[in-house]
Amino acid sequence: AGANPGGGNGVATDAAPNGKPAKNGKSFNLDDPALPKSVAEKALSSGGYPYDKTMPDGDYETAIEALQIELVKLQQWTIAAGERIVIVFEGRDAAGKGGTIGAFREYMSPRRTRVVALPKPTETEAGQWYFQRYAVHMPTRGEIVMFDRSWYNRAGVERVMNFCTPEQTEQFLKEAPRFEDMLIDEGLHLVKFFIDVGYEMQLKRFHERRHNPLKVWKVSPIDYAAIEKYADYTRARDRMLETTHTDHAPWMLLLGNDKKRLRLNALRHLLGLFDYPGKNRTVIGDIDPKILGREPGFLT
Ligand code: ADP
Ligand code: AMP
Ligand code: MLT
Repeated sequence: AGANPGGGNGVATDAAPNGKPAKNGKSFNLDDPALPKSVAEKALSSGGYPYDKTMPDGDYETAIEALQIELVKLQQWTIAAGERIVIVFEGRDAAGKGGTIGAFREYMSPRRTRVVALPKPTETEAGQWYFQRYAVHMPTRGEIVMFDRSWYNRAGVERVMNFCTPEQTEQFLKEAPRFEDMLIDEGLHLVKFFIDVGYEMQLKRFHERRHNPLKVWKVSPIDYAAIEKYADYTRARDRMLETTHTDHAPWMLLLGNDKKRLRLNALRHLLGLFDYPGKNRTVIGDIDPKILGREPGFLT
């Protein structure tokens, strides 16, 4: 542990994701209230995103509500049958984890649904078995637990920000599939989402957080530092997928540039995994293979 990413206000950077100066030669300053036009223009298409418009709001509202009704049925089955569901939300900073969790949780029972978003480890936790602080949050019968970030911190933010050693990351990558096998053998249902977002879209969202009084709580020093670490996160992501994309616990890879398509396809995938009473397959519809994939080459 030790690095102090960002370290306060105004990390101006002209680093593009490959570490070279941005092509337009201008620096991106998160503190400047004006978002550079080049960033705004490229945001939606960044990272090879397959759509040039976001989905219309009306279509989204109709579709998400129908899926949320299915999710209520899924939860009723979970409670009645005493099933336990764990959903891991991983992804780049500002990819849309929190908003997707919000859409999932909106009409679910607050008593039978928990969101686990752990802060950085305490001194005591740092000295324990790595998985220990996550294990205590696993669901009991009838519960659905959503991890907003998870044990995979060790393969992502901790690796990239040097909060752990490379050896600790490699050790983790060996152990994570064993940990997950134990959860599955125990009978838990484990679903893992990784949400990606393009470089310019990530910048745009950091900028929005910084200057919108309703979102400013989401900006962290880690976000400032992440601006220059996009390529490092890509490397960390690919190494993580290489070692933890197992048959028992595969990653569902999602493109998050359009939050609406992201949420709908994540929810469709979850609902498709279970046979609950009253399931309406027509309502669930088809997953968009341009938004959700499971082949390692799906993400660029
Ligand atoms: P988020 O993006 O989830 O809102 P942050 O950007 O503040 O939150 O932090 C990202 C993640 O990095 C969190 O899961 C946090 O617990 C973790 N983290 C922050 N500092 C440390 C640290 N010194 N050691 C380990 N993990 C850390
Ligand atoms: P290097 O590729 O060694 O020049 O490292 C450049 C940056 O990438 C450093 O900040 C490293 O922390 C990070 N890095 C190197 N290898 C990995 C990896 N396998 N996973 C994640 N980050 C890495
Ligand atoms: C994230 O960092 O992915 C956020 O939690 C998503 C959001 O903007 O809601």
